[in-house]
Amino acid sequence: MKILVINGPNLDLLGTREQAIYGTETLDDIKGHLEKKAKELSVEIDFRQSNHEGDIIDWIGEAKKTIDAIIINPAAYTHTSVGIRDAISAVELPAVEVHLSNVHAREEFRQRSYIAPVCLGQICGFGSHGYILALEALINR
Ligand code: DQA
Repeated sequence: MKILVINGPNLDLLGTREQAIYGTETLDDIKGHLEKKAKELSVEIDFRQSNHEGDIIDWIGEAKKTIDAIIINPAAYTHTSVGIRDAISAVELPAVEVHLSNVHAREEFRQRSYIAPVCLGQICGFGSHGYILALEALINR
């Protein structure tokens, strides 16, 4: 089983970015935890980040050929991107949306996700552990 893990804009800044909300772990730390868990569960992960919507849409489109499932933290694109939503619908791969913070307890504009309706589910508010929960949820499925 191979899982594509996509991280959207500004997640490359984790570690220094708004620490009170996102904590002090870097994206590399999160990648490390997830790779360790993936090894234990005998699955392969391909962990990526981009600040560009088109990259993310391209990666999802290409995933159809080689990937079994998607974990995505679309970051700010969660609240704006019909393009990413349509890409997930188009490839018909099981996907889980992850957020480090509890987006429902934040500003009103973060409470709307264009992506969640085309995912199996959304996990938010558990920091980096959300990625592990998403991996377990996909495998369980
Ligand atoms: C985020 C929540 C989004 O609203 C925000 O734009 C992010 C990070 C999270 O992981 O909590 O960049 O996706």
